Amino acid sequence: MANDKKNKIKARIQELRSELEEHNRRYYVDNAPIISDFEFDALMRDLESLEKLYPEFATEDSPTQKVGSDIAVLSEDADKDNINADAASKGKNEDGSAVRKSRAAAAKPKPKFAQYPHRYPMLSLGNTYNIEELAAFAERVDKALDDLSGVADTRLEADTVQSSEKQRSIGATTEYSCELKFDGTAICLTYSKGALVRALTRGDGSVGDDVTANVLTIPSIPRYVSDVDFDFEIRGEIYMPYSSFNALNAEKMEVGDQPFANPRNAAAGTLKTLDTEEVRRRGLECVLYHILGENLPFKYHSEAMFWASQHGFPVSSHSRICHSLEEINRYISNWNISRKSLPFATDGIVIKVNNLELQESLGYTAKSPRWATAYKFQPERVLTGLQSIDYQVGRTGAITPVANLNPVPLSGTVVKRASLHNSEQMEILDIHIGDFVYVEKGGEIIPKITAVEKSRRPEDAQKPVFPTHCPDCGSILVKNEEEARHYCMNEQCPTRVKGAFLHFISRKAMDINAGDATIETFYNKGWIRTLPDLYRITEAQLLTLEGWKEKSVSNLLGSLEASKGKPFHSVLFALGIRHIGETTAKAITAHFGDIRSMIKATREEYLAVDDVGGIIADALVEYFSQETHIAMIEELENIGLQFSAGRLEQLSDRLAGCNIVVSGNFSISRDALKELIARHGGRNTGSVTGKTTYLLAGEKPGPEKIKKAENLKVKVISEEEFNELIR
Ligand code: IVH
Repeated sequence: MANDKKNKIKARIQELRSELEEHNRRYYVDNAPIISDFEFDALMRDLESLEKLYPEFATEDSPTQKVGSDIAVLSEDADKDNINADAASKGKNEDGSAVRKSRAAAAKPKPKFAQYPHRYPMLSLGNTYNIEELAAFAERVDKALDDLSGVADTRLEADTVQSSEKQRSIGATTEYSCELKFDGTAICLTYSKGALVRALTRGDGSVGDDVTANVLTIPSIPRYVSDVDFDFEIRGEIYMPYSSFNALNAEKMEVGDQPFANPRNAAAGTLKTLDTEEVRRRGLECVLYHILGENLPFKYHSEAMFWASQHGFPVSSHSRICHSLEEINRYISNWNISRKSLPFATDGIVIKVNNLELQESLGYTAKSPRWATAYKFQPERVLTGLQSIDYQVGRTGAITPVANLNPVPLSGTVVKRASLHNSEQMEILDIHIGDFVYVEKGGEIIPKITAVEKSRRPEDAQKPVFPTHCPDCGSILVKNEEEARHYCMNEQCPTRVKGAFLHFISRKAMDINAGDATIETFYNKGWIRTLPDLYRITEAQLLTLEGWKEKSVSNLLGSLEASKGKPFHSVLFALGIRHIGETTAKAITAHFGDIRSMIKATREEYLAVDDVGGIIADALVEYFSQETHIAMIEELENIGLQFSAGRLEQLSDRLAGCNIVVSGNFSISRDALKELIARHGGRNTGSVTGKTTYLLAGEKPGPEKIKKAENLKVKVISEEEFNELIR
């Protein structure tokens, strides 16, 4: 072959390898891939076929020969991500900044977790997107088994023993276990003498990150297993159910953080978080699907899984034994539809040879077992026209470009809008108004534009011009070098102001009984411009509003009063300082103790807080350098909000000497109510006795308590009456 052509092929192979390495890193380390699995797998296939055709260029360290590594390293930015409790919270996938971050990480690769070797390599799975290739897999299995004829005899024997049903054939007589392919992150649990001793991620397949502390937050994973006289490893997937994923993303959006693109990224990012309490709060789950060990007492994979479920391990109830390609196809078609109603994400079906002896004889390639393969569901992706782009202002001033699309059905909903994330993403896509664009649902939740079909670009397609000024208030937009987003810096920008109030009143912040419409009304009336204004609104003012009656007024005023009992960390979070999420606020308030020390603190002093990185430190220093912020904090402090982590300041002694029992549901949280009782000098007690002053009864109070209060002639008061008492 001409040297020229060979050189070109070699260059293409090298290019594919470095592209795949980069995508592996984005997927396994950053948890923020920028291409779909489908696109990744297509690149991998290109590389595999070139290496097969030109074996002289094959190398052992090619991505075709090894699994992508998830080993996490610490860097300043990784710290920040970790505080915000993930590695992907800042839109690394879309904004291009991940490249910088990870290069920074590569410069000082300090491992984030202790690492331990795997006793058995932790491999990946071969995969296919088409049914015909499954037939090829089954044929390969049968051929390999026929070649091992001695083993084949045992197989027939074993099969006959296990299966009462006469085996039909897939060319031969193999039994397959068909299972859901859970879209999470792989985990290996080691049990010794029945006790869970370690949980490792896959890592690079030979060495994994020790994430035991995080895994122990998952209640379904047994700490001990009784009646077991052998040591074993059990492997499976850590995943985040849609319910937890949606709650986490809602919180992220509330504080202006980039949401996770899909539950897999969220699960993997969470598992690699250093704050165990945060991991617990996020609600990871686990399913186990593979047992390994020396001389295990099982002949079949299905038998091992049954044993695991009997011993308290979370095992999928959706696995089935199939005896023919036909049955496998039916299983696939069924789950391709039914999976949409599962409460967690799946990305395919795994097909495993069920007989463990046969598995052993089939063995492994460098990267995956020969006894199993994955059939992956095609990503749901559609092509549609881009009509226009809106630029939305968030409460932190971040500008998000949002594409208006020709409405198109996708995974069960009609998609009309998709996020374009930021200007860099628009550049990468080279998007034009009028283009036909590919829309995918990342993890089938948030639609995103993944590519542009340039062959269909109309002649008059216009390249969009990213605005230089805020679409709402008209002030100039600013973009810092190290951030992917443009920001409106005008704190009086109406959208920002309303956003700041919405954040302030949110449940995790001050938990005030109001919503979008109320804030909109207050803003339009000119009642609220800076946060303290909210506490200056009077009963008389509220009663002038249409539809506002005594009860709604009392609810709002009551919750404003109760918010004074919110701890310092909630108040700090409520201020809405850029990059300060709930967890960060807790870490910082615990470190400094009060707002004065924070206002005085230098960048270096902030950096001394566990897990605070440069971006957070800069944001805090910048925030406290502004006179208007300090003045606002002083006003809030005078109103009675908590700016120190110490004892709660007394608001009055109106409840002095009162023992109050609380029962039922209220417009504010029970904790806030209890704090309020204490801050007005009262005592919250658990049960109604002769010494109880009031039974404070919300909606659906405990009938026993009411009965006891009546018997003992204890006064029962409503939430409104309570609010009157303390006002
Ligand atoms: S068996 C030797 N079963 O998919 C590999 N894997 O894309 C044994 N996965 O690395 C793996 N569901 O993390 C197996 N039912 C299942 C699975 C499953 C999800 C993951 C696993 C694997 C990856 C390959």
